[in-house]
Amino acid sequence: MTERVYIKEIATYEGQQVTIKGWLYNRTDKGKLQFLLVRDGTGLVQCVASQKGVSAQVFADARSLTQESSITVTGKVRADRRAPGGYELLLNDLQIVQLTQDYPITPKEHGIAFLMQHRHLWIRSSRQHAILRVRAEVVKAIRGWLDDHGFINVDTPILTPSSCEDTTTLFETDYFGEKAYLAQSGQLYSEATIGAFGKVYCFGPTFRAEKSKTRRHLTEFWMVEPEMAYVDLEGCMQVEEEFVSYIVQMVLNNRAAELETLGRDTSRLQKVVAPFPRISYDEAVELLNKDGLEFKWGDDFGAPHEVALGEHFEKPVFVYHYPTACKAFYMEAHPSRPEVCLSVDLLAPEGYGEIIGGGQRTASYELLEQRLKEHNLPREAYEWYLDLRRYGSVPHSGFGLGLERTVAWVCGIQHIRETIAFPRMLERMYP
Ligand code: 4AD
Ligand code: MG
Repeated sequence: MTERVYIKEIATYEGQQVTIKGWLYNRTDKGKLQFLLVRDGTGLVQCVASQKGVSAQVFADARSLTQESSITVTGKVRADRRAPGGYELLLNDLQIVQLTQDYPITPKEHGIAFLMQHRHLWIRSSRQHAILRVRAEVVKAIRGWLDDHGFINVDTPILTPSSCEDTTTLFETDYFGEKAYLAQSGQLYSEATIGAFGKVYCFGPTFRAEKSKTRRHLTEFWMVEPEMAYVDLEGCMQVEEEFVSYIVQMVLNNRAAELETLGRDTSRLQKVVAPFPRISYDEAVELLNKDGLEFKWGDDFGAPHEVALGEHFEKPVFVYHYPTACKAFYMEAHPSRPEVCLSVDLLAPEGYGEIIGGGQRTASYELLEQRLKEHNLPREAYEWYLDLRRYGSVPHSGFGLGLERTVAWVCGIQHIRETIAFPRMLERMYP
């Protein structure tokens, strides 16, 4: 028995006989030579079957291989500058696990609707594979940074009795005769867990019944939400910039090959190092008007405004002190300007717009009570949340980073639908 190895480590087996278990990505027939491009999830390697070098059966089998057939190949590893990855396998044995018939995604161009309908297969192609590996690296960096900086991971429920963000985007479900909603954010619960742990984060899927079809909205997306006791708006921004810089630098270091597959211009990403520029909402409005985009103080930014603002900076930019009326009920009021709140959004450059929303939370029981009323939220469902202001209330802040928007930006891809294995969108719940 030869040793089974993974393609990513093939360089360490030069000159040795190894076995690779995978799938046929592509085949080129050169008569007496068959070039099999094999993938195993960790990479791609070219295997060469020569008519002289293998049995007649193995050669006939190699020649019969169709795209995405599952195969086990055995051969000797040889360095070859011309081969993709720099190494190839000189085949001497081949086992067909399954001969695939009529794989629907061929090397020709397919339309996006077709590819989305075959998402379960599309994820095997090299571009999708690269994006999802970058996503996994981003997740690893997120957890790594937070775990190393004293944040405790405390996950929050998905079935909830109340809303956190805009009530018009709630997914409602029946909970044994009572109304329940899929979580839009874990924030309110993280505000409770900081009472026990000081610094926490939750990280999981969140749900919004977004009725708009855009390239940056999903109905199910992943969000990481750090929350910190005794931290104000300024402290929150400092954590955000260190955190985002780390994520980007980790991807640059560990996923260079994937970024190359995606054709990403990494010079823009190299510049993403703390500190990030900061502007107030008031200054942002001025910038937009200077740009010739008519924008009224008090309105919320739409995608075109965020893109325009991002273009003024090389790094992500913080926009703080939004109008209170634009933001959720829990935002802390500005101490001398009640019309603005202690919120902050982080806008990514290169047209990607908002990737983080957050800020300082209302610490006062009375103000929170009043805000719940103003937002017509049912007090009973928030009684526990009011408790957090009754028993040891402290100034505190936190934020939510959208995983898919961050991955889209880091990968430099146009649409968020490719950043998650099985996207959920207004018009898609299949596969
Ligand atoms: O700005 P949002 O709505 O903030 C919150 O939910 C806060 N409770 C977070 C907190 O302070 N703990 O959402 C945060 C981020 C956005 O900046 C965006 O990156 C992402 O979540 N996001 C979405 N991503 C994909 N599809 C959607 N429909 C999204 N909605 C928000
Ligand atoms: Mg937001």
